[in-house]
Amino acid sequence: TLATTIGGKTFDNCMMNAAGVRCQNKKDLDALVQSNAGAYVTKSATPQERAGNPSPRMHTLLKASINSMGLPNNGLDYYLDYVIRDQQKRPDSTNFLSVAGTSLEDNLAMLHQIQDSEYTGFVELNLSCPNVPGKPQVGYDFDRVHAVLEHVFDFYTKPLGVKLPPYFDLVHFDQIAAILNQYPLTFVNSINSIGNALVVDPRSEQVVIRPKGGFGGIGGAIVKPTALANVRGLALRLKPEIKIIGTGGIINGVDVFEHILCGASMVQIGTQFGYEGPALFDRLAKELTEIMAEKGYSSIEDFRGKLKTF
Ligand code: DHB
Repeated sequence: TLATTIGGKTFDNCMMNAAGVRCQNKKDLDALVQSNAGAYVTKSATPQERAGNPSPRMHTLLKASINSMGLPNNGLDYYLDYVIRDQQKRPDSTNFLSVAGTSLEDNLAMLHQIQDSEYTGFVELNLSCPNVPGKPQVGYDFDRVHAVLEHVFDFYTKPLGVKLPPYFDLVHFDQIAAILNQYPLTFVNSINSIGNALVVDPRSEQVVIRPKGGFGGIGGAIVKPTALANVRGLALRLKPEIKIIGTGGIINGVDVFEHILCGASMVQIGTQFGYEGPALFDRLAKELTEIMAEKGYSSIEDFRGKLKTF
């Protein structure tokens, strides 16, 4: 079985989409509902709809993608309406509503609206969007992470997790974990894209995306070692009640297996889901099932977090 449990909720498959890719409108979300994914997450919402940055705003390479979408989304009401209707249709299924305010005030206003609604599913509070010009991401400012969570847990009582940027220094793992461990978080999702990278086209001598002078967030196969380090680094430091969602660099079943070995209870796929669409979840489920059968594992708990070191 590929089932997993987070915050007392069981998901029949430990794989789902990552926020941002093919989840902006009802048609995308309906396709995820129909797919073999264990859950879906909606495109990060802001209070009002946004058109996002000018195109081209995403570019793909063989083992990497770069994007600076700029939070194009249909606004919180649209996604909250979708998840509430879905919850009425499928009361036994839990899904994820992503919110990404560009200020503390916006995040608190959206979470108040969700708290006051009939939605009972998970919220993924995105503290790591690198692509809105002039708006620093919260995840790299530990005092602001602390302040956001302090304000949020003053009133918010539904299951909540945070989406984090990648960290690159072990002291930063210690510092972020010490903050997160002070709160009743249901999950932590690591990693978002590796922010503010630059892809250059030597032939045209140009950047490949328009926003921010070509700077954007990197996803795809090449981010896997950074993602695994973050999943493992957090798994070793977070209290066991906070489950980890591993995101980054998943192309095949082996990649899913590695994320779970490092401590992930669930995994999300962004770039590859963009390439492959909902059939991705059939392929990954088959590949992970085969790996587990070869190794004699019957559930993901048999190997989750059990990475060996020398
Ligand atoms: C966008 C990118 C992100 O990495 C994110 O977390 C949220 C939004 C974007 O550019 O739309």
